[in-house]
Amino acid sequence: MKLWAGRFSKEADSRVNDFNSSIRFDSRMFREDIQGSLAHAAMLAGQGIISQEDEQAIAQGLEGILQDLESGKLAFDPDAEDIHMFIEAELTARIGQAGKRLHTARSRNDQVALDLRLYLRRELKEIKALLKGLVSELCNQAAKYADTVMPGYTHLQRAQPITFGHHLMAYAWMFRRDLLRLADAAARMDSMPLGSGALAGTTYPIDRWQTAQALGFSEPCPNSLDGVSDRDYCIELASAFSILMMHLSRLSEEVVAWCSWEFKFIELDDAFATGSSIMPQKKNPDVAELVRGKTGRVYGDLMALLTVMKGLPLAYNKDMQEDKEAIFDGVDTVKLCIATFTPMLATMTVLKENMRAAAAKGFINATDCADYLVKKGMPFRDAYKLTGGLVAQCVREGKTLETLSLADYQRASALFGPDVYEAISLDACVQGRTSYGGPAPASVLAQVEQMRAFLDGLGE
Ligand code: ARG
Repeated sequence: MKLWAGRFSKEADSRVNDFNSSIRFDSRMFREDIQGSLAHAAMLAGQGIISQEDEQAIAQGLEGILQDLESGKLAFDPDAEDIHMFIEAELTARIGQAGKRLHTARSRNDQVALDLRLYLRRELKEIKALLKGLVSELCNQAAKYADTVMPGYTHLQRAQPITFGHHLMAYAWMFRRDLLRLADAAARMDSMPLGSGALAGTTYPIDRWQTAQALGFSEPCPNSLDGVSDRDYCIELASAFSILMMHLSRLSEEVVAWCSWEFKFIELDDAFATGSSIMPQKKNPDVAELVRGKTGRVYGDLMALLTVMKGLPLAYNKDMQEDKEAIFDGVDTVKLCIATFTPMLATMTVLKENMRAAAAKGFINATDCADYLVKKGMPFRDAYKLTGGLVAQCVREGKTLETLSLADYQRASALFGPDVYEAISLDACVQGRTSYGGPAPASVLAQVEQMRAFLDGLGE
């Protein structure tokens, strides 16, 4: 029998029951549901709305349910409409009359809004810890390869020499923004919806500041309609997750490329790669590919949430039950991806010689050759054109800028001297890029230091 049976003369059709029920996916909020009920009951008693005895019975009953759910002694009833109904019915079955008083001055609408915030707040802590772990690993690797020369690319064409450490730190800065975006979204989620009632508050003398404080929120939501119908926090989080996944996906794409024989810049540990069922030579970067693929589903979660909310009149509508699977999927996917990606990165082997060999080809020191002439007084545009001519000559004659003879250089311009070879050496090109934010080893180490200080200051 439904808790709302009074108004109805028939049981719900079994198909409606199944269709309507959310316990399959909202049962994961059982701890938060109980936490909210404990705070609500304590407030009701504090305000004299229920008796102290009832409050004690409720609290004991809820603690018992929590224990039994944690231990597996109590199973969720798949026929229950949702986690809120299930716990209330179970409580009443255990403690009788007092259980029926718990829902005074409350609705499932403000209850679910509270549970979801509490749940996401908890999950965000875990995501933050995982993300900090990833950034910290990027810092370790970047410090280790601060002076490892590799080609930097634009249009996936070799462009200018950089260091592997610098390349990795670029991702650390992206993930740092993700950490800040998540913290920012969490700060806006910091209002407490309980006491909004179904939509219009209540005539009972409740104390919403007390429950807000008990549950660790800065304030109660200031408008009851908004309190029950706001899902911005889900959308903001899904959006922050999408951006985070986009970053992880870009890095995944690079890992896939770097593992290919065409690049062979890195090799993944056997424990983080997979084989082929038919091709014995294969070692596939499945983890990186799956992260790239799962980015699509997180974007899908964001789209689902935005679309569910777009036409809803105030206040609560059942459509909003669809919020949970989307945001839960986003949470699960992000956690799973970071947790698998970080150790993959930590255990990879970096093939420095291959990176250097790739950097030695492709004329990535052409800009430095032009800059050499500029430092000797030639305007940059002229130096650019002249170097272009030298590159064309090298291509024609199968040479590189390093192997072109001094006579050839001097035929192009009298400004060239024997020191040109030092100026265009890969190490010099990289060491010289000391501009703030550049790829020089010293700059990479400074970035690592700055990033580590940021991580230390972030707190738990
Ligand atoms: N299971 C519902 C949800 O997730 C709880 C709120 C139900 N409220 C209602 N008025 N039917 O949204």
